[in-house]
Amino acid sequence: MAKKSILDFQSMVEKGDKIVFLTAYDYLTAKMQEKAGVDMILVGDSLGMVTLGYDTTFPVTMEDMIRHTQAVRRGAPGTFIIGDMPYMSYQVSDEEAIANAGRFIKEAGADCVKLEGAGPRIASRVQAINEAGVLVMGHIGLTPQFMGQLGGYKAQGRTAQAAVSLIKQAKILEEAGACSILVEGVPAAVGKAITERANIPVLGIGAGSYTHGQLVIYADMVGLYDNFTPKFVKKYCNIGETLVNAFSVYAKEVKEGQFPVDAEHAYKMKDEEVAQLTSLLKNIK
Ligand code: KIV
Repeated sequence: MAKKSILDFQSMVEKGDKIVFLTAYDYLTAKMQEKAGVDMILVGDSLGMVTLGYDTTFPVTMEDMIRHTQAVRRGAPGTFIIGDMPYMSYQVSDEEAIANAGRFIKEAGADCVKLEGAGPRIASRVQAINEAGVLVMGHIGLTPQFMGQLGGYKAQGRTAQAAVSLIKQAKILEEAGACSILVEGVPAAVGKAITERANIPVLGIGAGSYTHGQLVIYADMVGLYDNFTPKFVKKYCNIGETLVNAFSVYAKEVKEGQFPVDAEHAYKMKDEEVAQLTSLLKNIK
């Protein structure tokens, strides 16, 4: 199937077709997601926690993001890929933001970039990147790069005033030229209010069922990342447990000499070669 474009996502919204959105950080996972028919893949800076073992997304660099976005592109050549702009890759100036956004497209083969926040500074970045010809997804609500100001990983928009502020933020980003908005960690009523007022696709992660599409961090929904599981995550399988079991059985079999079984898991040699080797070995100490 041909890779979907932003116009395809707009027409999915018009038809009421939900957009399926997952994160991926590596070749193999991206390959499986493309096979499963996922519409969009986010190479999130959650890479920092899920793949690199950091406690937050702050240490993630542009080099990390480019390397992993390249791998995801190789795994999913026919899927719309969004590269997540890491901490301090867009905050400093419009020029740096354009240059870093361009790297995602030029070096990593991404189709779009995502950045967090919505104040006048962020709106300026969205406009500048968009005017440079790069699609930009906005990201509001629970934005991990603003964890300090938000006071931690907490749901946002839980009062009427805070909800109105998020609705205004979504409009500011749309007017600045964002091609879509990701809303994270807000009550379902707020996800709905933002979606109803938007003229661009609205994706949600922990924002209720009304948004045009749904995102989850893939490692959460398959039981791979167990350091912390947000309330909104549904587990579809427990690969973490399956892998720990497989590694334990392997360890036991190696220790007990049950793996490998030569007849099954080793390369063979012709009988005459074995006989010749046996005779040659007599002269080798
Ligand atoms: O980095 C990421 O995966 C994200 C999602 C949590 C929205 O930004």
